[in-house]
Amino acid sequence: MAKVLVATEKPFAKVAVEGIQKIVEEAGFEFALLEKYTSEEEFLKAVADVDALIVRSDKVTKNVVEAAKNLKIVVRAGAGYDNLDLEACSAKGVVAMNTPGQNSNAVAELALGMMVYMARNSFHAGTGAELRGKKLGIHAYGNVGRYVATIAKGFGMDVYAFDPFVTAEAMEKEGIKVCQSVEELYSTCNYVSLHIPANDKTKKSINFDLLSKMPKGGVLVNTARKEVIDEEGMVKIMESRPDFKYLSDIEPANAAELKEKFADRVFFTPKKMGAETAEANINAGLAAARQIVGFINNGDKTFQVNK
Ligand code: 3PG
Repeated sequence: MAKVLVATEKPFAKVAVEGIQKIVEEAGFEFALLEKYTSEEEFLKAVADVDALIVRSDKVTKNVVEAAKNLKIVVRAGAGYDNLDLEACSAKGVVAMNTPGQNSNAVAELALGMMVYMARNSFHAGTGAELRGKKLGIHAYGNVGRYVATIAKGFGMDVYAFDPFVTAEAMEKEGIKVCQSVEELYSTCNYVSLHIPANDKTKKSINFDLLSKMPKGGVLVNTARKEVIDEEGMVKIMESRPDFKYLSDIEPANAAELKEKFADRVFFTPKKMGAETAEANINAGLAAARQIVGFINNGDKTFQVNK
């Protein structure tokens, strides 16, 4: 009997775990759960006899893949799979998947929520500003970017996007003004919302030069990955531009320094929480379980991210 482990340092909502268990058991597989683990050792022990693994941002390292002797499939219940060692998976013939789109709306709502929070003086007394009529740049028009655009249009924002992997025609059809370069996006928009993955090309790519192109009062919103920010460049722009603001769902390594120096111009959630809604947990968790059943029973490799 195939054994499916849900290993989540940051647990899914209970209702999502119950849904995953139901799908796994109805397929005739064994269900196992490891939540809030505190060491890699615990994780390594739990994967020893599993055939399939569901994780969130949990690091599926070479160690984990090698310790999981029977592993055939790992599904990252979410979008970004920078936490999976794809090379190690491929070397062992393990199929790696994500569940694209399933938690996107939750992340998008948080991005807009943070924008409102900052525009209204962190909900302190005093005159704030409105989002209506402001220019919002979507940096990468994928699943989350599209939800952000839809909600922002509801706010009456003027939405721009840059994404070399999406055609101008597709974006224009959805009412988006297309930028030809990342520089054009940043120099045009009052707000920029980041939706790029963390990889060798994007890490530290959001740097001083790019941010300094933003108009006066520029706001960067990061619900993507902290690795894409050049942290030194961020300190530099905050120091040289007293009008610049930075909102992030992911506490950067230099969060303490930024909060101390620029208290009213930065906001960081205490723990990454973009996808922390019951709806997103259910959507992504159940999709992951169904993908595992489809793969084990029918060899369905839709959403495979390692080749
Ligand atoms: C994702 O890539 O899907 C999001 O960053 C959510 O990550 P999480 O599952 O760790 O909340």
